[in-house]
Amino acid sequence: MAPPSILVQRDYDDLSHAGADFVASIVAARPDATVLVATGETPMGLYAELALRQKAGTFDGSRLRVFQLDEYAGIADQDRRSLYGWTLRAFVDPLRIPHERVVRLPSRSDIPGGCAAYDRSVADAGGIDLAILGIGVNGHVGFNEPPSDRWTTTREVELTPETIRANTRYWGQEERIVRRGVTVGMTTLISARRVLLVASGTGKRDIVRRAMLGPVSAEVPASLLREADDVTLLVDRLAWNGMA
Ligand code: F6R
Repeated sequence: MAPPSILVQRDYDDLSHAGADFVASIVAARPDATVLVATGETPMGLYAELALRQKAGTFDGSRLRVFQLDEYAGIADQDRRSLYGWTLRAFVDPLRIPHERVVRLPSRSDIPGGCAAYDRSVADAGGIDLAILGIGVNGHVGFNEPPSDRWTTTREVELTPETIRANTRYWGQEERIVRRGVTVGMTTLISARRVLLVASGTGKRDIVRRAMLGPVSAEVPASLLREADDVTLLVDRLAWNGMA
């Protein structure tokens, strides 16, 4: 466990380029790496940059093995709010990764059994090489809402009011937000060989500071990532010191 590397970029565009460079260097060393992939807004620029490089032939992510990070509970595949669908659209399809190489979370039937099977798939794959994560304003990573301790496994959770409110950015009014989720647990995130945590904009400044500089605590699940072997925080200036 080393202190996190903190990379501060001028703005969101630079953050997205630096994030793509980071992922590309890992993929160059291990083309079939196992990657946990967040949805949400922050990593979209990074994924778009990787997609451009894939198209230009300067990067090849097609052999990656993708692990879904979180999902809404009870949601159908065709539902536009499906985070599996979002993962396919933003990452898997642009990088031409065959869908058989994606390990999904359960969302409908037998969620406990599906979560246990998911954790077995992570173990069978030899663990996660890279976790690409965002951070919620309440310090969640994936849907590990506070409090989530370091031993939590993949499971169904209740979303907090802050997360439900924050997710209206994606889907419109609160009635459209599913109130329960399924998330990879903290124990898998902390065990990833590399963790890339991305944050952008002034709205994330306070929580980024608490996560990186405050006490390591289940109350700020992202702070537990500091127990991982190799963590990189990639932020823009607004998210680091509130200055453009
Ligand atoms: C999404 C996820 C969430 C988001 C977080 C930040 O799969 O796991 O933890 O990463 O809520 O979301 P954005 O990037 O939209 O601010």
